[in-house]
Amino acid sequence: MIKLENVEKVYRTSAIETLALNNININVRKGEFVSIMGPSGCGKSTLLNIMGLLDTPSKGHIEIDGSKVEKYTDKSLAHLRNQKLGFIFQSFHLINDLSVIDNVEIPLLYRTSSSKDRRELAQEALEKVGLSNRMKHFPKQLSGGQKQRVAIARAIVGKPEIILADEPTGNLDSAMGNEILSILQQLNEGGATIVMVTHDDAMAKRTHRLIRLFDGTQVF
Ligand SMILES: Nc1ncnc2c1ncn2[C@@H]1O[C@H](COP(=O)(O)OP(=O)(O)OP(=O)(O)O)[C@@H](O)[C@H]1O
Ligand SMILES: [Mg+2]
Repeated sequence: MIKLENVEKVYRTSAIETLALNNININVRKGEFVSIMGPSGCGKSTLLNIMGLLDTPSKGHIEIDGSKVEKYTDKSLAHLRNQKLGFIFQSFHLINDLSVIDNVEIPLLYRTSSSKDRRELAQEALEKVGLSNRMKHFPKQLSGGQKQRVAIARAIVGKPEIILADEPTGNLDSAMGNEILSILQQLNEGGATIVMVTHDDAMAKRTHRLIRLFDGTQVF
């Protein structure tokens, strides 16, 4: 479903060059739930952003569900991202001026669905994360765990085949973290392919496979 071949990422600023990823080869199969672990700064977010087509590698090849994306224009990349991928960020990235349900509808605005369909899909996604009683709330009226659940609802509202989660439980206590992981497991059982960055061994153990990174390199 996600194939990375000899992927390298170099960040260049006027003063320094950082090799953030070095010769990465990963093949995530359809329906897999994979976790990524490694020390701070080892390239986990960079790897996830490249898998999610939010960033481009300096070298190497990427395939998403059989499509070789390197020749894609920005517009077709954005389309592929919107159709196939759902993102969950550690810091939630919710829009404070929008209600819960309006936040969840955002990915659907780029599609040709009617406002009634959007609302129905957003309600369905919020039910899945157990937040249908908070639809009219605003982000600042929610707890951290609830915000993360809104972020998950937004990631899944378009029914993406792939979910990429960057430390989705990093800001939460262990009870809430466990609940978030259970939601991800249910989505995986429903067919979603998931890649999750985590610092937590217990969370990684609940996934199918662990990829370890150290200084931009895969360790086996
Ligand atoms: N935009 C950027 N410009 C320059 N260097 C960058 C940039 N983004 C990341 N880096 C560098 O690339 C390396 C990998 O960063 P990345 O954010 O992928 O790490 P990480 O494993 O996600 O760390 P953390 O666990 O702290 O989130 C780091 O050394 C970082 O300083
Ligand atoms: Mg990171």
